[in-house]
Amino acid sequence: MKKVLIVYHSQEKGNTRIMAELVASGCREITGIDVVAVNVNERRVDMDTAEAADAYALGSPDYFSYPAGNVKQFVDDILLAAWQERRTTGKPCICFVTHGGGGAALPALEKLVKAAKLDQVLPGLSCRGAPQSEDDVRRCIALGREFARKVAAL
Ligand SMILES: Cc1cc2nc3c(=O)[nH]c(=O)nc-3n(C[C@H](O)[C@H](O)[C@H](O)COP(=O)(O)O)c2cc1C
Repeated sequence: MKKVLIVYHSQEKGNTRIMAELVASGCREITGIDVVAVNVNERRVDMDTAEAADAYALGSPDYFSYPAGNVKQFVDDILLAAWQERRTTGKPCICFVTHGGGGAALPALEKLVKAAKLDQVLPGLSCRGAPQSEDDVRRCIALGREFARKVAAL
């Protein structure tokens, strides 16, 4: 079994939680993939969990054109852990964002994961508010499915 760890922040309206659940459902379509999702607004991810994951999906609301602080905290934690010889970076990842009409947090998150030596293997996805249209829902599920396909093939 390959493990995908979905790390997201959701607080205001649950928009990013809905997006994370759709990405997770796409991942679960692929045989041999185990998915764990953590809302970092509720708890911090411990580095044993991060180390055990084969890949990460990072999701955040746009907060002042930047990812939420708790998502940034996760990225900081995995880089610091890697400096302590833990296997927490160098993994495939994807990024997704919900926003209120801006969306600049997506390129900011993509820059952050690159700096932390993660390998973004698919283009990021953003939604204005919760994914509601048929097209948005399809894109979120497809992102999870395509990501899980790549992870399963590792
Ligand atoms: C503190 C704060 C700052 C925000 N800043 C932005 C912003 O700069 N640009 C934007 O498009 N939306 C902004 N928003 C809107 C949120 O990104 C949007 O409502 C998001 O979908 C909330 O996700 P959630 O319901 O999962 O918490 C902000 C919301 C909050 C609470």
